[in-house]
Amino acid sequence: MRHAPATLRNREPILNVLKQVLPHRGLLLEIASGTGEHAVFMAPELGELFWQPSEMDGAVLADIDERTITAGCQRILPALQLDVTAATWPLSHADAVFCCNMIHIAPWAAAESMFTGAARLLRPSSLLILYGPFRRHGVHTAASNAQFESWLQGIDPRFAVRCLDNDVIPLARANGFELADIVAMPANNFTVIWRRC
Ligand SMILES: C[S@@+](CC[C@H](N)C(=O)[O-])C[C@H]1O[C@@H](n2cnc3c(N)ncnc32)[C@H](O)[C@@H]1O
Repeated sequence: MRHAPATLRNREPILNVLKQVLPHRGLLLEIASGTGEHAVFMAPELGELFWQPSEMDGAVLADIDERTITAGCQRILPALQLDVTAATWPLSHADAVFCCNMIHIAPWAAAESMFTGAARLLRPSSLLILYGPFRRHGVHTAASNAQFESWLQGIDPRFAVRCLDNDVIPLARANGFELADIVAMPANNFTVIWRRC
């Protein structure tokens, strides 16, 4: 099975935030599940909440499912293929949406589509939670994030560490989300929580 080493470092701090804010039941959609390692670590700790993994890359869905079946958590659903930029999404409702480390490693259109799609799924007062590196007021929060962005842009010039204040918060607001909290995380990352208006 594939392994993303960063998940071992960030999973516990992220889970601590999720435990404080998520509802104890209902359905959480995870966008860009990657290896599924966050799902298997977090879902068993989140009460009766069902966890719906998803991935743009259909080739990794079986790998995510193998990991979740091996973990034995009954509340992790079979992974869905979801490219946030697709015109239709494979589900019509969620009680929360979580997306970790995606909007910097995708074109800006993916961020735009993610907010638009999440707005369609969520009822008023439901949460959308993003985790990752962000610029604040246009400025990198650490030299390592600037280096990371140079590396990202070597892969694809459309990728970038997004500016929370200048770009992401206005995009969220335009899609009907009010900012609920910004939590500083280890390694110069943030967990950002929005509430659907
Ligand atoms: C750095 S990985 C993060 C994976 C996982 N969330 C984690 O933290 O380990 C970025 C993920 O974003 C996904 N991704 C990129 N563009 C996407 C899109 N348009 N729709 C959905 N997922 C996308 C990729 O498939 C990849 O799994």
